[in-house]
Amino acid sequence: MIEINDLTVTYKSDKEQYTAIKNVTMTIPDGGTCALIGPSGCGKSTLLKAVAGLIPSFEGNVEINGAPVNPKEQTIGFMPQNYGLLPWRTVYDNIALGMKIKKSPALLDKNTIKGVMHQLGLEGLGHRYPKELSGGQQQRVALARVFALKPDILLMDEPFSALDAITREEMQDVFLKLWRKFEVSTIFVTHYVEEALYLGQKIVILSAGSGSISNVIDNPLFGVENVRGQEKFFQMGLKLREIIKKDWEQAWES
Ligand SMILES: Nc1ncnc2c1ncn2[C@@H]1O[C@H](COP(=O)(O)OP(=O)(O)O)[C@@H](O)[C@H]1O
Ligand SMILES: [Mg+2]
Repeated sequence: MIEINDLTVTYKSDKEQYTAIKNVTMTIPDGGTCALIGPSGCGKSTLLKAVAGLIPSFEGNVEINGAPVNPKEQTIGFMPQNYGLLPWRTVYDNIALGMKIKKSPALLDKNTIKGVMHQLGLEGLGHRYPKELSGGQQQRVALARVFALKPDILLMDEPFSALDAITREEMQDVFLKLWRKFEVSTIFVTHYVEEALYLGQKIVILSAGSGSISNVIDNPLFGVENVRGQEKFFQMGLKLREIIKKDWEQAWES
């Protein structure tokens, strides 16, 4: 479970202060998913980093399974924008690296790495370097790295944005399969309405400019089989676009 209570994040430098996230409160239940959607610069990455424990000082509370967030105590799977793969490391080492950073005892467990590689169809690619992979394969390596950690929570920043539409849908399904298996509470950032609808049990809309939540939607279509091809998916997409458009227009006018 992820509990965010009245979170405010202010970036401070000698010259200025900028509040990127303001009074955000939200809860992701055990094994739930939440899609975070909002215009560029509204604070999505900042919110994710705060939940990951990567921002040293903030106001409010972030709790993971009842304890304040602390990357030393909890295992946090964090997938940054653009995968964060190290170009000078092989696929295998990139996947194992998450464990090394965490100093996890699972480091010794080569079977965990092999198992995740198998689930993601990465067998035979362990010796390659990231530049020798397609975009979809790089995405799989990034997923393998976070899932191999067996994380307490999973945070993904625009995970599938760099992929073409067909590969993106394929990777969304790959993600769902792993997520069902590991039952990990997940927050992901997206700017695709359809991605939010397909992967988010809960959809949280962040306002333009203000860094606060404008809408929370409990997504009735989450988990519905073959939902992408259905009329109700299309209709809900239109509705969500309407809500987002209205919200962002209001934000720019005020
Ligand atoms: N390290 C930082 N120092 C100062 N301001 C920052 C820093 N990181 C982000 N910001 C500012 O905070 C706001 C939100 O940024 P970010 O969370 O990256 O937005 P998003 O991911 O929604 O595009 C932006 O205006 C950005 O310029
Ligand atoms: Mg961002």
